[in-house]
Amino acid sequence: MPDIVINADALQSFVFSLWRHAGSTEHEAALVAEHLVMSNLTGHDSHGIGMIPRYVAALSEGGLRLNQTVSVVKDAGALLTLDGLRGFGQSTAWQAMKLGIERAKDSGVCVVALRNTHHLGRLGHWAEQCAAEGMASFHFVNVAGHTQVAPWSGTDGRFGTNPFSAAWPRPGKPPLVLDFATSSIAVGKVRVARNKGQSVPEGCLIDHTGAPTTDPSTLTQSPFGALLPFGQHKGFGLAVMCEIFAGALTGGYTTHADTRPTTSAIINGLFSVIIAPEAMDAPDAQQQADAFLQWVKESPPAPGQHIYEPGEPERLCRQARLDQGIPVDVATWGQIQQAASKLGFPESGLPQVREA
Ligand SMILES: NC(=O)c1ccc[n+]([C@@H]2O[C@H](COP(=O)([O-])OP(=O)(O)OC[C@H]3O[C@@H](n4cnc5c(N)ncnc54)[C@H](O)[C@@H]3O)[C@@H](O)[C@H]2O)c1
Repeated sequence: MPDIVINADALQSFVFSLWRHAGSTEHEAALVAEHLVMSNLTGHDSHGIGMIPRYVAALSEGGLRLNQTVSVVKDAGALLTLDGLRGFGQSTAWQAMKLGIERAKDSGVCVVALRNTHHLGRLGHWAEQCAAEGMASFHFVNVAGHTQVAPWSGTDGRFGTNPFSAAWPRPGKPPLVLDFATSSIAVGKVRVARNKGQSVPEGCLIDHTGAPTTDPSTLTQSPFGALLPFGQHKGFGLAVMCEIFAGALTGGYTTHADTRPTTSAIINGLFSVIIAPEAMDAPDAQQQADAFLQWVKESPPAPGQHIYEPGEPERLCRQARLDQGIPVDVATWGQIQQAASKLGFPESGLPQVREA
């Protein structure tokens, strides 16, 4: 099905108005709108406006709570344990990072554990928030109770797509931002492929018998198959660590038979380490990082290829989509319109769309 295209500003103001209509404060609606549209701008449509129908369902079932202020469970200076109270992750994670950045500016480092938050979206957004304040950071997330990913050498889903992110700030230059799901591809990318009527690449999915498949509906229709971890046993190992740091060490919960979700809510745990680089005894850190990157980028590229820094593909996509508009597949757009209508949002508030 062909895409439609929507201007980024128009889309952001629609998403803002939608969540204001649902009951979010201006601040929360602005954070959610900025985050979702930024995910589309960076090319991660899986975590952009396509999440709206799921969030509307979670809201109507009581699994997503609007306008939550994170509660401080433990404040030990450079260690901060927070409860997101099932609030919008686009707000709770912003609050958690803000608190952690302030602490890291004072103490050199802050470990922030945020449990029990609703879906915090594109994890790199939070690493970018830290980098914008000059902070280096890394982040582990679990998708508590979700079972779309099979263990390495297993044949059924046992954990979620548990993303990892890290960012390195560079004064006067964009930060390096690594941000990925530990599954071969994100669940949202399977949803986008299904909505577009496309197959997913080989090596990403198994069906309910454990056999390889490229059919995205194996994740949406019973009998369910599963995603495979990225990088074989290594991606599996990283997913396990994400689950334990973000699900267990935060005081949240991990995925097992007793924690399978019964509603549309997506509950994340977030374990972040935020570091003020100048607090380390490493005056040459930027120079060393730059020298390494230059060295790496001087490798002769494979035919027709280009060597990108982590975060560079997203930056290029952001610029292109700011200039040309954001493509949205018509099935996803139809689902968003239905969700808006369920909230009683007026049709006149929908943004103008054009054909791709
Ligand atoms: N909140 C949640 O529960 C949750 C769960 C899973 C995933 N996610 C999010 O889903 C999003 C998508 O994840 P994904 O696994 O599909 O990402 P992906 O496979 O597109 O990988 C993205 C990362 O790889 C880098 N990259 C991409 N192409 C590159 C190239 N050619 N050379 C060098 N680097 C390159 C990017 O800069 C980025 O750091 C992420 O933002 C992630 O945080 C969130």
